[in-house]
Amino acid sequence: MENNSSYKRRAEFYDVEYIPLDDTNFLSSFIGDQVKSILEVPSGSGFHLEFLIGTGKNIYMIDKEPEMIEAIKRKIEIHGQGKKVQAICGLMESYDIPQKVDLIIFPQESFQLLNCDKLVIETLCNAYQNLNINGITLVDIAVFDRNIKPNTKNTPKYWHPSREEKLICLDWQRDINNERKLLRKSSYVETSENITFTFYYEVFCHDNCIDEYSASISLKKYRSEFLINLINETGFTIENIFGDYSHKKYELGDPRLIFILRKYEDRTK
Ligand SMILES: C[S@@+](CC[C@H](N)C(=O)[O-])C[C@H]1O[C@@H](n2cnc3c(N)ncnc32)[C@H](O)[C@@H]1O
Repeated sequence: MENNSSYKRRAEFYDVEYIPLDDTNFLSSFIGDQVKSILEVPSGSGFHLEFLIGTGKNIYMIDKEPEMIEAIKRKIEIHGQGKKVQAICGLMESYDIPQKVDLIIFPQESFQLLNCDKLVIETLCNAYQNLNINGITLVDIAVFDRNIKPNTKNTPKYWHPSREEKLICLDWQRDINNERKLLRKSSYVETSENITFTFYYEVFCHDNCIDEYSASISLKKYRSEFLINLINETGFTIENIFGDYSHKKYELGDPRLIFILRKYEDRTK
């Protein structure tokens, strides 16, 4: 079975596959009148696009895979919002935009795709450069720790603290269209530093399997103190750390680590 760690192969059905947690109310709380422009990176195929268009702000959506950017551009055409929304191919650590923005969002777990401290620093410095003074960067991290509180909400849809390592589980089967279905299974392995998920896909047409492939992603596991130290090297001020989407202040055992970082002045360390 073909396996790769890029998102190229997943782009075709990413809209069917990627239905993350609903964080839109939480994100909305950072989009007041003072926010005129928002950048989301990585944007994937545009899960948040409709929500962001609905804010009426100027929007940039950045992703490293051209296939994801093409998918967003097709959606922008449908919404007829060409002037206010731009989809740009670029990396978290080095994208380029024509104008600075007021809010930068690193959505659910995407920051954890950065696999070394150097990339984390570069990514935060790049965010700092691309923010207006008083702008905010929001970094949303999932805590992959078996000791998070039981019955907790806001863990990623593809992982739960009670889920057994290495066991291949059926996640779901979903309609692609009237004729085709996508089935996904997954498993994970972890070290103290990373958690690696492998997703196994089968495409069915009228109950016949016509294609199968798999893809792996490795996500970095973070502790709050570790990230606080890295953030302190970048010029940002940590304004808040939340532990879930109800604005609860982060404490050990929470399912998420959501950093709200403010740029108070133009200083880059
Ligand atoms: C939105 S994140 C979501 C991660 C999620 N946990 C999952 O299961 O897919 C996925 C997106 O990140 C993009 N991506 C990965 N590394 C990137 C990087 N360094 N810069 C920009 N985009 C990146 C991929 O192309 C993909 O569209």
